[in-house]
Amino acid sequence: MRIERISAHGFRGLKDVDITLDNLTLVLGANGSGKSSLAGAVQMALTGHCRWTTSDGKLAKPLVRYGHTQATCEVVLDTDDRTVVCGREIITGVRPYCSAPGRLDMLVAVEAEAYIRQLVPGIELADCLLSSEGFIDLPPKQQQATLFSLAGGEADAQWFASQLTEEEREAVRDELATRLVGAALAESVHASVYARRTTARRRLKELEAQLAVVVETAPAVNITEMETALASARAELADLQVRIGRVQERTRHREQTQERLARAEADEAAIRQALEQLPTTEPPTKAAVTKARKAVEAAQARLDEAERVLTTAYGELAAMKATLESRAPADSTCPLDGVLCPRGDELVALADKLASECAALTEMVAQREAERDEARQTVQEAQNALSQLLDSQQAAEQTALRRQELEERLESLEQEIEALRGDLREESGDIAALTVHRDMVLTAIAEQEAVIRTAYAAQQARKHREETERMLAQARQEVALLDSLVNKFGPAGLPAQAMTTTVGQVIDAINDVLKTFTGFQLAIDPGVDFSLTVVRGDETTPIRLLSESERLRVGVAIQVAFAKLTGFPMVVVDAADRLDAANRPQLLAMLLRSGVQALVLATPGNGHTPRAPGLVVYQLDDGTATEV
Ligand SMILES: Nc1ncnc2c1ncn2[C@@H]1O[C@H](COP(=O)(O)OP(=O)(O)O)[C@@H](O)[C@H]1O
Ligand SMILES: [Mg+2]
Repeated sequence: MRIERISAHGFRGLKDVDITLDNLTLVLGANGSGKSSLAGAVQMALTGHCRWTTSDGKLAKPLVRYGHTQATCEVVLDTDDRTVVCGREIITGVRPYCSAPGRLDMLVAVEAEAYIRQLVPGIELADCLLSSEGFIDLPPKQQQATLFSLAGGEADAQWFASQLTEEEREAVRDELATRLVGAALAESVHASVYARRTTARRRLKELEAQLAVVVETAPAVNITEMETALASARAELADLQVRIGRVQERTRHREQTQERLARAEADEAAIRQALEQLPTTEPPTKAAVTKARKAVEAAQARLDEAERVLTTAYGELAAMKATLESRAPADSTCPLDGVLCPRGDELVALADKLASECAALTEMVAQREAERDEARQTVQEAQNALSQLLDSQQAAEQTALRRQELEERLESLEQEIEALRGDLREESGDIAALTVHRDMVLTAIAEQEAVIRTAYAAQQARKHREETERMLAQARQEVALLDSLVNKFGPAGLPAQAMTTTVGQVIDAINDVLKTFTGFQLAIDPGVDFSLTVVRGDETTPIRLLSESERLRVGVAIQVAFAKLTGFPMVVVDAADRLDAANRPQLLAMLLRSGVQALVLATPGNGHTPRAPGLVVYQLDDGTATEV
């Protein structure tokens, strides 16, 4: 793309300018001839603003030539496939237009600007290309932004991550996950790691303070060994408790045994006494009993005989009485019973006889009765004697049984007493000795437990100390890591490096141009704030301290480099007469070789008009340009 033509009518000091451009177009004119007006017209046409307007194109000073009603400024671009006219028609303010060839229609500002925006990444960049001071006069922050935009953007999170160690990368992974880039990203990460470092340093101090007070209170002992000893002491204690329990049990048992022995001995005495009190009479012999039985039998036989005799006597007496009754007279009195027998003396004699026989018989009966009673008495006596014998026999048997029973009981009691005495004779154990032993073991256990507790506490303290030391080491590492990150993300760290890396290519491009016509090299001041310096040999000068001519040369080099980087068609160099006779040709030569179209405006020098292929020279007089 080339700039074909520039025309301006009624723009500030210009009347009618219509120039066709070559690679290098030199416009020479005296002071006040309208050179700056022409430079402004180009800027106005392409950007909608110039040094006499605000950046948004609002009028700051009158742009229309005094006495004219309107002003126009146009730049005709020859692109690969068409011709584009970018222009402004100014009446009271700014009315831009932009058209394709053959269609010089009025277009809206948006489209004209849109076309220029295609050429440069920011409209501000166009100002840097259309004025030699455009870039140098920008505040450092904007210079930086401009360089970044030319370099294709600021360093992003990925770039920053690539500059970190793996550990550092891991530590700021969250902080890097942001849309921010370049210095803003670095600033945000810096703030975060700075805050984290403050916390980490505080923690480090706390841990150091903690470590200062952690003291080991006991020497290291073998806790396992001590616990084994304690376990055996506890086992011994348990054994002693069992033994003491057993002895106590035995003591209780002994008391019971003694009670039982006393009871058994009392029983034994009672039984012996009962035995002594048992009757000692011998039982009747069998012969005596047999004899008594026989005596009873004999007495019974005699009684039976007596009764039989008596029964016979009773029969005889009854027969006698019946005979007597049948013979005795009715009026006589029977001597037997006073009955009166009716038949007289005979009868009386008979009756007397009978009566005497009857009396004799009665007497005999009485005798027989006496005999029988005597026999009965004898039987009774014999029976009594027998039953006495039998009673005494039974009593003797019972006594024998009782004796046997008592003797059996006595025997078992004697056995029991023997057993109980045996029990009591047994060794009961020394409970006092056992208790003393147990108390000693208890004390030993308590002491061992205390030692183990202390050992554990010491172990715990050691562990705590180790843990604190570990945390301290960790905290130190963390602080070191954060220190490194704070430094890296600090302004002089990665942001500066990023800037150098990112904008380095642009600076290199500028220096490539500079070295072709100056002894200067541009550099980024490695200080905290972004600023550019110029290096000449050993000397470094901040860019703001350069002379006018130096500024111009550095400015032009920047313009050319920017134009090459962006493909923007042209640079405009106003007031080139700031250069002396030696430097001017060098500048023109550089511009001719640069491959970038240039419009250079200057007062005529020594009256000599330079000539070179690709160079066209115009003379500007009173607002009108003519080719020379
Ligand atoms: N609106 C205007 N109408 C008429 N003349 C103007 C206007 N603005 C500026 N001028 C004059 O135009 C002349 C050219 O100025 P300028 O372009 O700065 O010249 P140069 O850069 O060549 O020294 C000056 O004399 C200036 O006073
Ligand atoms: Mg001027």
